[in-house]
Amino acid sequence: MSKDLDRVRDQWETLAKSDPFWAVLTETEYHDGQARKDFFDSGRTDVRRLLEVLDRHGKSYGDVAVDFGCGVGRLTYALAEQCKHVTGVDVSRSMIEQAQAGNPFPDRVAFVHNEAATLPFDDDSVDLVISVITLQHIRPALSLRYLLEMARITKPGGHLVFQLPSHVPATRPMPPSLSKAQLHVLEAPTSLEVGESGYVRVGVKNISHGEWLPGQLLNAGNHWRLHGAMFVQDDGREPVRCPLRPGESTEVLIRVMAPSEPGSYELEVDLVQETVAWWAERDSATARVPVEVRAKAPVTAAPVDEAPAAPVVAKTTGDELEMNGVRKDLVYALFEQIGCTVLEATPDERAGGHWLSYVYAIEVGEYRIDINHGI
Ligand SMILES: C[S@@+](CC[C@H](N)C(=O)[O-])C[C@H]1O[C@@H](n2cnc3c(N)ncnc32)[C@H](O)[C@@H]1O
Repeated sequence: MSKDLDRVRDQWETLAKSDPFWAVLTETEYHDGQARKDFFDSGRTDVRRLLEVLDRHGKSYGDVAVDFGCGVGRLTYALAEQCKHVTGVDVSRSMIEQAQAGNPFPDRVAFVHNEAATLPFDDDSVDLVISVITLQHIRPALSLRYLLEMARITKPGGHLVFQLPSHVPATRPMPPSLSKAQLHVLEAPTSLEVGESGYVRVGVKNISHGEWLPGQLLNAGNHWRLHGAMFVQDDGREPVRCPLRPGESTEVLIRVMAPSEPGSYELEVDLVQETVAWWAERDSATARVPVEVRAKAPVTAAPVDEAPAAPVVAKTTGDELEMNGVRKDLVYALFEQIGCTVLEATPDERAGGHWLSYVYAIEVGEYRIDINHGI
């Protein structure tokens, strides 16, 4: 197995062991397997949106489908409501075990653990391959290989529908008149140990008179202030989901890390257009909450009744998953080169505010390269 694949597998396995549902969708309500119904309902919505692309082109889905990077089966189960046989494939054994454990259609839906850069299916054996929020964490050389594999296993006339980011566009400064936000800290830890991570949930409202468009590198980020003075300028950063029209609101979950020295701090949240400006510099109001940063507790723990109040601290996720893209032009060229037709590339928001990302619908043609025998 390649180093890239090793890394991806280990990261996902760690995430899957700690909180598999939340690893798939990082909305807070899905922590620890909560809101299971909503979680799987979101899979139905996603599958409907993916298949709508084929509907628009008058294409059928066929009987046999594969869900690449299936996680706990969120889309796989939903796809089984549309196709007779569905196989979910995932690099993480724990994800596959979870998906198998909850499988509502054991006679028609199978799950396969696959650690290879190839897909474990015969040539021309499936009608449809889908993949969502999976290729974006795989490095391009490996993603391209998987795309070729998807084409190899799909019958001529069958389809691939997958989401893949293209690139982060160059930023154009947003005019200062648009840099007006109302920020509310909705949830934050009141106390953290030095260097400890926690999560801050922030409500962001566009109170300017113009729309915040996607692709402008607009993030919510935090500073740490001590006695009013800036102590840590750059800490957590998360994209603000755009577009956001005047008066519209969204929420951002920022992972923060307590400063290295104990003290009574203020955690300050602001918006920043990367490489352009923090919005406080443009007179947009920030939001601040007090956070007590404690010295590290000695290894021999204090008695329970003397322990400080439990902080609102979310789980840490280990190494952050890196984001990757393959330029849209290259995706088109790749499929054209192997005799497939790109039916459509629809802009998609799943990769977050910075990225131009697309859902591609591909019709597989007669001619394919057998990459497993070398190209
Ligand atoms: C964010 S989850 C998405 C799961 C599912 N597609 C969904 O939308 O519910 C990404 C999944 O892709 C899997 N994955 C990542 N790299 C993979 C690879 N090379 N082969 C198969 N699965 C992979 C991960 O283990 C993880 O379960």
